[in-house]
Amino acid sequence: IDEVPIPQPPPEFLLGNLRELDPNFPSRSTQRLADLYGEIVQLQLPGRRLIIVSSQQLADEICDDRLFFKEPGKALREVRALTGDGLFTSAHEDGRVMKREENWWKAHRLLVPAFGPLGLRKMFDDMQDISAQMMLRWDRLGDQHAIDCSDDFTRLAFDTIGLCSFGYRFNEFYSDEAHPFATQMADVLKMSGRRSSRTDLQNILHRWEEQDRQEKVKLMHGLVREIVEERKANPKPDAKDLLNTMLYSVDRESGDTLDEQNVIYNMVTFLVAGHETTSGTLSFLWYNLLKNPEAFHRAQKQVDEVVGDKVLSLDMLPKLTYLDSAIKETLRLNSPIPSFSVIPRDDCLLGGKYRIQATDAILLNLHGVHNDAAAWGSDYNEFKPERFLDGKFQTLPPSSWKPFGNGLRACIGRGFAEQEMILNTAMLLQRFSPEMVDPGYKLEIKSTLTIKPDGFYMRVRRRPGKS
Ligand code: HEM
Repeated sequence: IDEVPIPQPPPEFLLGNLRELDPNFPSRSTQRLADLYGEIVQLQLPGRRLIIVSSQQLADEICDDRLFFKEPGKALREVRALTGDGLFTSAHEDGRVMKREENWWKAHRLLVPAFGPLGLRKMFDDMQDISAQMMLRWDRLGDQHAIDCSDDFTRLAFDTIGLCSFGYRFNEFYSDEAHPFATQMADVLKMSGRRSSRTDLQNILHRWEEQDRQEKVKLMHGLVREIVEERKANPKPDAKDLLNTMLYSVDRESGDTLDEQNVIYNMVTFLVAGHETTSGTLSFLWYNLLKNPEAFHRAQKQVDEVVGDKVLSLDMLPKLTYLDSAIKETLRLNSPIPSFSVIPRDDCLLGGKYRIQATDAILLNLHGVHNDAAAWGSDYNEFKPERFLDGKFQTLPPSSWKPFGNGLRACIGRGFAEQEMILNTAMLLQRFSPEMVDPGYKLEIKSTLTIKPDGFYMRVRRRPGKS
């Protein structure tokens, strides 16, 4: 087969294609480019070429980790000011810019089991505790109150990680203002994003912003360090949470425990990686359920059958298959992390025809892959949880659904997020009949490191006879 040139928007003098990417909303730019140019497009950016891939077939090649692997890109490297060599932002192999970091491997080996089924089982009660706080708050606010979904689900996800992973209560549901840590985190992520889209020279000119960022990082590290000091001063040998694992478990392969700085980086990493993603997904889920009354009723019917008037318990979760499918379908249509990046090990021909160089960076545009008609059918833009029901999930074309990333660097918190989301949704459906405040609401999206609905409000009414 002949090589086919990779399409490229017309470059500008000196800037190349830099202005094709909106720093405030990169995922909208990548999708616009995918709409214009199709399954693959190249951008010439200062010092590098970025290839954006948007089809299932090409995604499947990108997901072969013999050919491609994750090296944290520019944006993630900026976030390292906050998360250092924590799992998300460290390098597990020698890359072009970064060297392999042993701490990734140590933390990965120690934490994969802690996030596994046994670990999650132990977290069920704490997850339920926080969800119950949300139910109580919504109940007390009454059925006329407009609930800002993104806001409240963010409180939920934040509190849940704090309690389940290191026994700390942020108590987001007891205060009108978000916890300072949450606000600082949002600011630091925003500033890091902006830094990554600017040249070094421009960054020097934004010195005051960098000072602000570093101060906030210091405050956040300070809080987390206090939690660690408190645990060390008052050990809780029975609390089999992630903090104990990180502080005391020995990695068999290296014979080491994690160093304290790395523990702090990983704690912040869980808060960063776990709260916006989970809260965004829950907000999108409710948007989808309320826009699709049939799906909503099916979900509620299943909760009535499985949970009824009983208190939700761990053994009920696997039976809530429709909820699980509705969440998977939401992650398909509205992936809160809209893309992830890899680099090639060598020059190669993608799809047998597109020339990729070892110096390129590849961005996998999940919106494109998750809306590829060739993989999902002509109704790809409709919300249909049925696509995932009855084992159909296993028969999807390979790499057509990648909201949790890929391979060794896929999301370590996937089971955590799934358990929390099913549990919360079941508790909500059991008690309330939610509705949209504005039935004509059209999905608006806001973008930070993740995307979530903007201005989406629900009202909740107690279901008659449900206590
Ligand atoms: C990695 C998505 C929830 C912790 C990732 C990646 C994605 C992702 C796409 C790979 C990023 C990349 O390749 O650069 C999601 C989604 C979530 C979710 C959609 C919820 C719906 C969570 C939670 C936690 C978490 C709850 C922790 C409590 C992490 C960590 C990594 C990661 C530590 C880095 C793993 C590594 O590279 O070793 N996640 N995530 N995530 N996620 Fe999640």
